[in-house]
Amino acid sequence: MRTRPLKVALLGCGVVGSEVARIMTTHAADLTARIGAPVELAGVAVRRPSKVRDGIDPSLVTTDATALVKRGDIDVVVEVIGGIEPARTLITTAFEHGASVVSANKALIAQDGAALHAAAEEHGRDLYYEAAVAGAIPLIRPLRESLVGDKVNRVLGIVNGTTNFILDAMDTTGAGYQEALDEATALGYAEADPTADVEGFDAAAKAAILAGIAFHTRVRLDDVYREGMTEVTGADFASAKRMGCTIKLLAICERAADGGSVTARVHPAMIPLSHPLASVREAYNAVFVEAEAAGQLMFYGPGAGGSPTASAVLGDLVAVCRNKLAEATGPGESAYTQLPVGSMGEVVTRYHISLDVADKPGVLAQVATVFAEHGVSIDTVRQTGKDGEASLVVVTHRAPDAALSGTVEALRNLDTVRGVASIMRVEGE
Ligand SMILES: NC(=O)c1ccc[n+]([C@@H]2O[C@H](COP(=O)([O-])OP(=O)(O)OC[C@H]3O[C@@H](n4cnc5c(N)ncnc54)[C@H](OP(=O)(O)O)[C@@H]3O)[C@@H](O)[C@H]2O)c1
Repeated sequence: MRTRPLKVALLGCGVVGSEVARIMTTHAADLTARIGAPVELAGVAVRRPSKVRDGIDPSLVTTDATALVKRGDIDVVVEVIGGIEPARTLITTAFEHGASVVSANKALIAQDGAALHAAAEEHGRDLYYEAAVAGAIPLIRPLRESLVGDKVNRVLGIVNGTTNFILDAMDTTGAGYQEALDEATALGYAEADPTADVEGFDAAAKAAILAGIAFHTRVRLDDVYREGMTEVTGADFASAKRMGCTIKLLAICERAADGGSVTARVHPAMIPLSHPLASVREAYNAVFVEAEAAGQLMFYGPGAGGSPTASAVLGDLVAVCRNKLAEATGPGESAYTQLPVGSMGEVVTRYHISLDVADKPGVLAQVATVFAEHGVSIDTVRQTGKDGEASLVVVTHRAPDAALSGTVEALRNLDTVRGVASIMRVEGE
């Protein structure tokens, strides 16, 4: 057992950072035994130095994060500041000065993961970020290491707790979107500005990271198709229930059937109640992985929160410290397949379309013709009507998204179609 401690610089001491520091202190003896050397908190960079921080030695606190990462005696930098800058520059500076990095920063990894991995490799350091996707749930390491001998074909997940809480509340209590969002905000599940969550930006960043790792290719944030969940209504849930489904905001990363490309997307979708993801309640996260040899795997747990996220950070910290002692590095970026990322138009799935139509003879035939003309095969049709107006619900077989878009455009041009009330993809069947 080495007695000289490994030195850790903590950048950020907020929701996650304060829990990382607490666990490092309370579990110090266990961490020492598991790593094979003691770990010492050597500095804590924050924005507001005068803030009282329980359990943190005030002499360690600094506002000069750059000087901290440049010290030269730091073994591991834990970046839990968030955002792009100064986190990006601090991480690259850390590599240049001999430290490995553990980060929880999904936005940064999704945007600049390739460059950061290259910088880590150039300097012979580690870059680990288990906490960046789905909080406490082990996902990056299982994909990077446990499943590295298999072929992952699909990753389908609920990776944003805020939106899952809102959709779950809408489903179970009948609340509207705004009411459910207000409840999520009051309970601390939604931020004052919920845009990143409800518009799917947070989930899209996670989808980019997961797709890159799962398919050993590079998937940039811009490659991820994204739709938020603010338009989901009570009527959509009623339709979903009639089909034996519920609605979730899903991140879906898929290998194309011919294996020649991949796609990554985030949007609300109906999934059958029999699917394991349908029973993921409240703010929990879950990710369903389909691999050729392993079959179907499900990873489930708390996707955010200080303590759960710190658990993932600490797991990475131990791994990186062990690598450091072994004078080795863990797996870096694996992007050798160089698979192109397909557009949303290439995605093949099923659709549930609600139309407001004129209640007169021949409308159904007209609508069916438009679907046929665009090569979209209809599975079921349900029509309800009164007082000259009718509602038509069409569920399709699997079809390319581009074909469905063309169908909807043509439907909007029919005199007998008063409006397209909703279009929802149906997944997980
Ligand atoms: N919260 C979660 O549940 C969760 C889950 C998964 C991943 N993450 C990720 O974890 C990271 C941290 O999230 P968080 O919720 O802990 O954020 P947070 O509570 O806002 O904490 C951010 C910390 O960074 C410090 N900071 C901000 N700008 C700084 C700068 N320029 N120099 C030095 N320190 C600076 C802040 O200092 P002050 O304390 O002085 O303000 C604060 O301590 C983010 O990347 C986030 O996406 C969070």
